[in-house]
Amino acid sequence: MILKDKNIVITGSGRGIGKAIAIACAKEGANIGLVSRTLEELTQTKEEIISHGIDTKVVVKIADITKYDEITEAFKTFYEELGPLNGIIANAGYSRMWATHEFDNEKFSQILNINILGVFFTFKAAYPYMKKDDKKNKARFIFTGSQAYPIAPIRLTAYVASKFAVVGMQKSMAAEYKNENITFNMVLPTQVDTRLLRGKSAGDGNKPDYVLNPWDLNDYYIFLLSDDANRVDNALIFTYDFNEVKKLLAGAPSGKKENWEVFKDYLEEKAPKIYENVKNLGKLVNFIISRLS
Ligand SMILES: NC(=O)c1ccc[n+]([C@@H]2O[C@H](COP(=O)([O-])OP(=O)(O)OC[C@H]3O[C@@H](n4cnc5c(N)ncnc54)[C@H](OP(=O)(O)O)[C@@H]3O)[C@@H](O)[C@H]2O)c1
Repeated sequence: MILKDKNIVITGSGRGIGKAIAIACAKEGANIGLVSRTLEELTQTKEEIISHGIDTKVVVKIADITKYDEITEAFKTFYEELGPLNGIIANAGYSRMWATHEFDNEKFSQILNINILGVFFTFKAAYPYMKKDDKKNKARFIFTGSQAYPIAPIRLTAYVASKFAVVGMQKSMAAEYKNENITFNMVLPTQVDTRLLRGKSAGDGNKPDYVLNPWDLNDYYIFLLSDDANRVDNALIFTYDFNEVKKLLAGAPSGKKENWEVFKDYLEEKAPKIYENVKNLGKLVNFIISRLS
């Protein structure tokens, strides 16, 4: 179990991507702090973890990440019940689509508040409780970004602004905390079958093929939380690129797919652009290979 005894808090873990990450981290032995605004959904995530027969601690706290007092109180409880925190996943997010000139003013602010201010409040509230005393086992702060950075689809101006903003925040924070044993990394998914994308149709079995399942992202987060990623900092993991890597691994001849060292030349030849995008994350490719076998 890769995350045995690590303490991981995931915002937005009542459904969608955050719920999938929480279950995956618990299966890897981590103790989990679950937080969102909806108690019933958090309780359901906790019950699913328990139903897998996993013997870890799961602490549930409701908090709105845009309310500093609430999220501070939640992190205090996570620290008291779990101990120093090894990983924080700032995953909670929100989006709405409108033509920009018609965008509802309140909704525009709400999207920025949840996706930017909420991430800042999450970090500020978590910081005193993060385990920052071990260079060989650094604390991890992981953002859920989006392929909206850098594609910038239309009618998503508020969301795009927020997802560009967190890339800047990560860069700045990675530099600022370089000597404090905290790393900052981001997973930037393409479209995923969750309520944010498909509303109440999420999980109905009718998603288009190009839309990922929430659990398709688990390995990226587990990697970033694992010992393998202790020195990975300010990385942007675009799930599109690694999906392509997975397809190429599936088709690669034996002798070319056992590890990054033997795979990289094959990848460079078959998909030079993908190679350029992932070449600094060979450790993640190795991790993916280890999870495939
Ligand atoms: N789905 C996609 O296609 C996609 C693609 C790229 C990136 N993402 C990103 O993935 C992340 C997770 O989204 P998802 O797709 O899993 O959506 P989702 O199913 O709607 O889940 C969003 C989660 O965030 C929580 N949340 C929202 N506002 C909150 C607030 N103010 N305080 C606390 N928790 C809050 C929600 O719970 P409550 O509403 O109960 O609080 C819920 O648990 C987001 O950052 C999103 O931008 C999604």
